[in-house]
Amino acid sequence: MSTPVSLRKRVLSGMRPTGKLHLGNYMGALHNWVRLQDSYDCYFFIADIHALTTDYADPSQIAANTREVILDYLAAGLDPARSVLFVQSHVKQHFELPLLLGMITPLGWLERVPTYKEQQENLAGKDLTTYGFLGYPVLMSSDILLYQADFVPVGQDQVAHVELTREVARRFNQFYKRADGSEILPEPQVLLTPSPKLPGTDGRKMSKSYGNTILLSDPEPEIRAKIKPMVTDPARIRRKDPGNPDKCPVGDLHKIFSTQETIAKVYEGCTTAGIGCIECKTWAADAIVSTLAPIQERRVKFEQNPALVSDILADGARRATARAEQTMQEVRSAMGLGSNPGAKVSQAAPNV
Ligand code: TRP
Ligand code: SF4
Repeated sequence: MSTPVSLRKRVLSGMRPTGKLHLGNYMGALHNWVRLQDSYDCYFFIADIHALTTDYADPSQIAANTREVILDYLAAGLDPARSVLFVQSHVKQHFELPLLLGMITPLGWLERVPTYKEQQENLAGKDLTTYGFLGYPVLMSSDILLYQADFVPVGQDQVAHVELTREVARRFNQFYKRADGSEILPEPQVLLTPSPKLPGTDGRKMSKSYGNTILLSDPEPEIRAKIKPMVTDPARIRRKDPGNPDKCPVGDLHKIFSTQETIAKVYEGCTTAGIGCIECKTWAADAIVSTLAPIQERRVKFEQNPALVSDILADGARRATARAEQTMQEVRSAMGLGSNPGAKVSQAAPNV
C-alpha cells in the first residue's frame, strides 16, 4: 500500500557525477531510492557542483558524467512522474544557500568532518587545501535543507555529513526564526540504506577507485568476461576439493542476485564438490544479467531520446527551483536580506 501523496514525508538524496554507475551504486543506493518512490515525496539529483570541490582543475568530464548518471537514474527506475529528478547546478538556490549557511558554520565543525582529512590524503595528487573543499559539507547541508527534507537515504559513509547538516540547521534555528517563532529549517534524519556486501571482480568491495566494477550498462558478454576470472574460495584448489560459498566472493554475488533455488544448489554443489567454480560463475553471471536486463532496456530507450531526457531535467529543475525558492525566501528574510523591490516590475516587463 502506498502512502497518500498529501501526507508524504520528503526524501532527498544525490550522487556525484562519477560517470556510468555500477552494481555497487545500484545495490547501495539506487535500488532503495526506486522503492522509496512509493511512499515518499522524492527529490533525487546529481551533485555536479560537488564535483568541482575535487575536480576544479579539470572539469572536462563533469558534463558528460552528469549525463551518464541521469541515464542510469532513469534506467534504474527513478520515475519523473513520481520523483523530482534534477541537476544541482540547474537550481541556482544551490549556489546561494551555501554562502548564507557558511556565515554561521564554525570552521572547527568542518575541520572535524572525518572525510576532510581522509580525502586530502586519498587524493594526494589534487590540491584540496581550498575553501571550496573544506566547505563541501556546507554544500551538502544546503542540498538537504533547501528542500526541508525529512529523510536522507545514504550509506554509512555519508552519515557524518547528515549529522553536520542537523547541527547547521539547529544553529540556524537558534539564531533565526519565523515571525511566529517557528523554525525554518527542520533537522533531517538519515535513512540508512542497508547495503549487502557486494564484492567487485577482484574480491574487494566494488568501487570505481579499485577498477573492479560491473557497470549497469555493461553488455552481457562483458559481464560474463568480468566474472569468469574472479577469485573463489581458496580451499577449492582442485575441482574435487569442497568449498564454502560463505568464503567466496562469487558466493556473495549469489546471495544478492540469485534465486533461493540457485543459492541452495550453490551451497550443496560447492560444499560437496558436486559443481565446479566455472559452472557456479555462469549461474552468478546469469543472475546479474537478468537483474540488469530491464535496466538496460530502459537505458537504451532514454539514450535514443535525448529530447525526452532534456525535458525531464527541465521539468525537474523547474519543480526543484519552486520548492527551493520557498525556503530561500524565508532564509533571506530571516537573515535580514530583503527581497528586491524591483523584481516584480522587471518580471512584468519582459521586454526591457
Ligand atoms: N556527498 C554525497 C556523496 O558523495 C553526495 C551528495 C551531495 C548528497 N549532496 C547530497 C547525498 C545531499 C545526499 C544528500 O555520495
Ligand atoms: Fe565459490 Fe561457487 Fe566455487 Fe563455491 S563453487 S568456491 S561458491 S565459485
